[in-house]
Amino acid sequence: MFTLAHLSDPHLAPLPAPRWRELIGKRATGYINWQRRRRFIHDPAVLAKIVADLKAQAPGHIAVTGDIANIALPEEFTRGRAWLESLGNPTDVSFVPGNHDAYVPEAGVLADRAWRPFMSEDNETAGFPYARRRGPLGLIGVSTGVPSPPFFATGLIGNEQLAALALTLDELKAEKLFRVVLIHHPPVSAAARHKRLIDAHILLHVIAEHGAELVLHGHDHLHMINWLDGPNGTRVPAVGVPSASAAWGMSKDAAAYNLYAIGGAPGAWTCEMISRGIGAAGAVMQQRRLKLFG
Ligand SMILES: [Fe+2]
Repeated sequence: MFTLAHLSDPHLAPLPAPRWRELIGKRATGYINWQRRRRFIHDPAVLAKIVADLKAQAPGHIAVTGDIANIALPEEFTRGRAWLESLGNPTDVSFVPGNHDAYVPEAGVLADRAWRPFMSEDNETAGFPYARRRGPLGLIGVSTGVPSPPFFATGLIGNEQLAALALTLDELKAEKLFRVVLIHHPPVSAAARHKRLIDAHILLHVIAEHGAELVLHGHDHLHMINWLDGPNGTRVPAVGVPSASAAWGMSKDAAAYNLYAIGGAPGAWTCEMISRGIGAAGAVMQQRRLKLFG
């Protein structure tokens, strides 16, 4: 049995003090939004409790699906690196960027410089999608983080990455691995259009044709499960988690993370999901147990 933990959207707080020259364009509206609303939602004490509880479960691997940053100030990438390292070694932690990590055009370089060991192939090749093999798992990291205009939170995979994803899914299937796609934006969502994954329809097509065992995402800050069509009548669960720092009663769903206990073998995989999250009293507890396969 292999245990994979999944958390997302930590939105590290507090926000570093920005320099005036850094607050141009999208960062200016994002800064106002942070000061007015988001700083009351994303609580570092809540995140610390979630991380402590997750580490106490001693998972075999940890997946983080984006949005470490808020408005992509240079300092947020340095702090993000320290936070990723607090989770574990780059070999034990896989990260994919979200829209807040790609908030402005220069964010891509900052993310690559600070976080590359957590988002690269086992041979340290950079770029997306990346593939990592851990026990029975074939983890595939997809990036949807692209800069967007103010008030937009859209994501885009792009045709080149989608074509490579199809090949990687086939490759890992041939290796008889349990394929887990890590992606920030949900492939299916009820959220507003300005938050959507622009090429979700092509991703759904790739999954329907090439299959995957599990898709893990963040972005909507909600507990979500959508069953996607896979090849030959199979169904692929796409599971989303709330923000790992969301204070109770302040946002959509309060902070939580999921654990997946994966066993069995190709054609007969077993996978049980356990959700653990923060309750009204401020303690982290088990909230749900669900058999996805087997
Ligand atoms: Fe987010």
